[in-house]
Amino acid sequence: MSTVTTTTFVITFMIMLPCYKAIDSSALDDMFEEYARNSLPTRPITGLLYNATLPSNFTGVHVSIVRLRWDSFWRKGANYSEFNMPPRIFSYPYFPRLDIVYSSLGSQSSYYNNYNVPNYTLVAPVVGFNAYGPAGQKLNLTLLGGPILVQFPQNENAKCVTFYSNGTLEMSDVTQEDMCVVRDQGHFSIAVQVPPSNTPEEKDRGRKLWKWWVFGFGVGVVGLLSVGCVAFMIIRMRKIGKMEKEAENNEGLETANVGQSKMPLATVVRTQPVLETDYVP
Ligand SMILES: *[C@@H]1O[C@H](CO)[C@@H](O)[C@H](O)[C@H]1NC(C)=O
Ligand SMILES: *[C@@H]1O[C@H](CO)[C@@H](O)[C@H](O)[C@H]1NC(C)=O
Ligand SMILES: *[C@@H]1O[C@H](CO)[C@@H](O)[C@H](O)[C@H]1NC(C)=O
Ligand SMILES: *[C@@H]1O[C@H](CO)[C@@H](O)[C@H](O)[C@H]1NC(C)=O
Ligand SMILES: *[C@@H]1O[C@H](CO)[C@@H](O)[C@H](O)[C@H]1NC(C)=O
Ligand SMILES: *[C@@H]1O[C@H](CO)[C@@H](O)[C@H](O)[C@H]1NC(C)=O
Repeated sequence: MSTVTTTTFVITFMIMLPCYKAIDSSALDDMFEEYARNSLPTRPITGLLYNATLPSNFTGVHVSIVRLRWDSFWRKGANYSEFNMPPRIFSYPYFPRLDIVYSSLGSQSSYYNNYNVPNYTLVAPVVGFNAYGPAGQKLNLTLLGGPILVQFPQNENAKCVTFYSNGTLEMSDVTQEDMCVVRDQGHFSIAVQVPPSNTPEEKDRGRKLWKWWVFGFGVGVVGLLSVGCVAFMIIRMRKIGKMEKEAENNEGLETANVGQSKMPLATVVRTQPVLETDYVP
């Protein structure tokens, strides 16, 4: 496969990525862990919470990391971020030190549809934590001293939603102190039930009509987005096709031998005018 063809595939994939936000929870956790670890100084102070530096496409998301001594975590627990972890949390495999990575999806919580619950609407950011060994090994936790409590903003009708790392989704009541009781690492939020539409007929009819409007609008928007995505992709692919041809035509002039394949040089400058003429709806 030529370099250009490979590039075509890679670019196609990159264009399609934002169209379908197919990113699963564990991949996201791995990403957060990596960013958090890279944000630690070479000799992190144990017990100090460090903010992670995230790429700009994670605006609104907040990730932090703390390194703890195993015995201190066992004897005292840990209270960072919204999490109250009691003593006697057994983490294994054993390392003298462990890292806890906290995350809050913030304003992007509803963007990650892997945290959506049917018939419920999230009413607080999705927060979470995971425990790791000092080189990023995933740890298992066993809570021997009672549950972990997660603090949430007050919301009368909300229920706790827990997305455990093993993929189990559970719902439970919020405590009187607006906290959720959790038994393992994972991601957590609170959600309110979407009211079912079994109201008197007149209202029902109005609602149904409204629903159709919303539905139509939704379909329209999704349709437009999809068409946009595909159109964008086709344009990009055509552009790349042209690049490929030009590269073949201008052999020796603007190509360089990189290994065994020919790579066009200064492609950005050369192909920019193509965009304008190519952009026919
Ligand atoms: C970490 O981030 C939080 C929230 O954005 C901020 O309040 C805090 O000051 C930051 N801490 C450091 C050490 O930068
Ligand atoms: C943000 O960009 C990184 C690479 O820079 C990518 O791995 C990640 O999936 C992107 N995140 C989102 C939410 O698009
Ligand atoms: C965590 O908070 C609880 C009460 O909220 C307190 O009893 C406990 O001592 C705190 N633990 C640490 C390590 O600060
Ligand atoms: C951690 O727990 C998971 C699921 O319960 C299990 O598959 C895995 O083997 C455990 N890891 C260790 C190191 O015990
Ligand atoms: C997932 O983890 C939770 C909390 O530890 C546990 O209650 C649940 O049984 C686990 N589910 C599976 C399928 O292992
Ligand atoms: C959502 O609610 C509708 C009607 O209120 C019901 O038919 C459906 O089974 C519910 N879905 C889930 C996953 O509970």
